[in-house]
Amino acid sequence: MSTDLAIGVHDLSLRTTSLVLPHAELARYNGSDVAKYHKGLGQRAMSVPTEDEDIVTMAAAAALPLIERHGPDDVTTVVLATESSVDQSKAAGVYVHSLLGLASNTRVVEVKQACYGATAGLQFAAGLVHRDPRQRVLVIASDVSQYDLDSPGEATQGAAAAAMLVTADPALLELTGPSGLFTADVMDFWRPNYRATPLVNGKESVAAYLDAVEGAWRDYRSQGGLPLTDFRGFCYHQPYTRMAFKAHRQLLETAGAHLDEEALHRDVAPTTSYNETVGNSYTASVYLALTALLENRDDLDGRTVGLFSYGSGSVAEFLAARVRPGYRAHLRQEAHRRAVEDRQVIDYATYRSLRERSLPTDGGWHELPHRTQGPFRLTAVRDHQRIYEAA
Ligand code: CAA
Repeated sequence: MSTDLAIGVHDLSLRTTSLVLPHAELARYNGSDVAKYHKGLGQRAMSVPTEDEDIVTMAAAAALPLIERHGPDDVTTVVLATESSVDQSKAAGVYVHSLLGLASNTRVVEVKQACYGATAGLQFAAGLVHRDPRQRVLVIASDVSQYDLDSPGEATQGAAAAAMLVTADPALLELTGPSGLFTADVMDFWRPNYRATPLVNGKESVAAYLDAVEGAWRDYRSQGGLPLTDFRGFCYHQPYTRMAFKAHRQLLETAGAHLDEEALHRDVAPTTSYNETVGNSYTASVYLALTALLENRDDLDGRTVGLFSYGSGSVAEFLAARVRPGYRAHLRQEAHRRAVEDRQVIDYATYRSLRERSLPTDGGWHELPHRTQGPFRLTAVRDHQRIYEAA
């Protein structure tokens, strides 16, 4: 950023769904060796939404603690990033704006580019704050990841939201320039408008992700970005947590660094604790990794960490951020631990029946059962409209 003003993430809050399916239960149903999930993919469980949870209820639940702590004043913009949108026209953030009771003189917009969208939102937010440092921008990443039943992708499903308040003089993280960018027109993962689940070329998607790591890092360095040795941690988009280790190996190779397995583990392992139990949360995933890093490491005051954001299709960005001194006093570790631990464990049959249902499309009045443990719920669908309320 070409300014002396520090701009970045002032506060960060996560939420997930009320239900969880352990991978041991998925393996019991489909006969897979559970080690494939636990070790091969690095996944232990996936969050599953109840009938009355979706990206809106998760997004509002993630953002509520930010509004409670800092108040609604000067929140001029809400950017909600998602690739599991509930409407082709209306921004999901407008429902969130209403549930949070934000002022009418707010701009609200939804952004999409697969799992990369929230990082674009973060950059847009930084630009707005740069223009007027009094402004505070709420950036929310919220996604429910669902693949075809019985497909290889099913084991990588998940759901979560990450809400960030972007301000001047932030308490947690200062974004620093430049950004390394990489875009390539590839069909690794996509979802046409008529499909509820994505189409995916699994192996190609892994290769496309790794190409993007190389391209974004090369661009970052060509613009005068910091050398590898200046970084104290690396947060990657984690469709499954082993992918972060593959990505970091790729980065080290591209940077010409010695491939040291111990260093690889030290750099990446502190970032995987939420993603391995929540599953792929698409746009939110790299910010779950960031949250885990800040919570698991107490030696990052003034240090630089790297964020790699990847959205299939594909757009990627590598950016550096400086952790603000005293950051640990502003974290929400206990609330995040509860959000994950309080989920109700379900069996495969319950998961399957939830996956096989879909919201009625007949325009009638359909009340939904009250199942969520969260603060907001989708109470009904009426006249083709979603009705949300405080739970
Ligand atoms: N014990 C230990 N490890 C085992 C094992 C066992 N019994 N059985 C298999 N494994 C290992 C395999 O060796 C493999 O390891 P490597 O990746 O190091 O080769 C790993 O477990 C996965 O095994 P397979 O490749 O056989 O698994 P699969 O055929 O079921 O496919 C997948 C894996 C392609 C990732 C599939 O889950 C998928 O399509 N996922 C959705 C797409 C995806 O997540 N792509 C990631 C990049 S794209 C992206 O990041 C955007 C996004 O969010 C979607």
